[in-house]
Amino acid sequence: MSNNNVNDLIAQMQAAVKSAVGASQAMRPLQAHSPTTGAHQSNDQAGLINQLMLGVESRFGIKSGSLVERKLARILKDMPVNVLRDWVSSMTTCTSEHAEWQSLVENLTVHETYFCRDPDLMEMVTNDVLPSLIASRESHQQLQVWSAASSTGEEVYDLAYICLKGLMQAGKASQTDGRIAPTKGWGLYVLGTDISNQALRTAREGVYGDLGMGSFRNLPAHWRAMFETVEMPSGGAMQGVNYFRIRDWVRQFVRFERFNLMNTRPPVSGMDLIFCRNVLIYFDDAVKLAVQKMLARAMSPGGVLIMGASVQLLATDYFDSHLGRGGPWYVRNKVPL
Ligand SMILES: C[S@@+](CC[C@H](N)C(=O)[O-])C[C@H]1O[C@@H](n2cnc3c(N)ncnc32)[C@H](O)[C@@H]1O
Repeated sequence: MSNNNVNDLIAQMQAAVKSAVGASQAMRPLQAHSPTTGAHQSNDQAGLINQLMLGVESRFGIKSGSLVERKLARILKDMPVNVLRDWVSSMTTCTSEHAEWQSLVENLTVHETYFCRDPDLMEMVTNDVLPSLIASRESHQQLQVWSAASSTGEEVYDLAYICLKGLMQAGKASQTDGRIAPTKGWGLYVLGTDISNQALRTAREGVYGDLGMGSFRNLPAHWRAMFETVEMPSGGAMQGVNYFRIRDWVRQFVRFERFNLMNTRPPVSGMDLIFCRNVLIYFDDAVKLAVQKMLARAMSPGGVLIMGASVQLLATDYFDSHLGRGGPWYVRNKVPL
């Protein structure tokens, strides 16, 4: 998290409290307000942070007692307790859509991601999952894919790329001058969603720099086909970093939307393949189960759900489990929800 973000957040909180309770009262330092000092102040602060954390958990699923709580304490440590108290109390009446919660969640979420994050998994999806999925979708000639919690978009473009390759291997797409395009009649739709507007902005731009341990740390050589080099306008570029844009023949199949996984109603239906990786680890079991049911609701029978090896399937009634070389995958059965 950059200092700028933290400072912006604190400034926003203070502005919100000012408008909620009146500038002169709200911004008075604690000592002028009450005799509480030292240990009392830090106890009060810990209680308020805990209250805020419960709000984060109920609105965004991110559970307390983790790294997130330490981040929150660091962001709020210099705030006078009376200001914090008023702010927390005004926050508890706001829904998750409110700008204050949004700026808090931007600072609490982990956006770590990169292209081809798990090569064994990608190979398994390409070789074992997609061929039968494509064969089973012959009647309506469309593949619908969703990356739920897509962060800055790398996973979404990965999915578009491997689906295009899969369609080509199945004889449902052709390649001309390096561009892969589905054959007439076949369609591809890849949706990326996330709670973070900042991450979604980067995702929609589809431009990535080759800085250190960034987006390209794991990229297999043949995946470079989906990028073109791009000149960044001066001011927008970091020195010594090369920038690459997703080529239009991949990008045209991709859309991004904001979506909170805590919603019980999915933003789409009839999905054939869903990736929901490296996010459910932040949620407790009750929330994991609710999210898995929501994902099941978004899928058509025979659709495949991939959550990575570290997340257990809890919505067992709605899926048949498979284990491949790249980890577990779950096929949506016909049990209604
Ligand atoms: C570590 S990234 C995972 C990115 C990608 N799926 C991957 O595996 O590389 C986790 C993402 O989950 C998002 N996230 C956290 N809580 C969320 C929620 N309640 N609804 C939607 N997205 C959420 C974060 O904003 C973050 O971008």
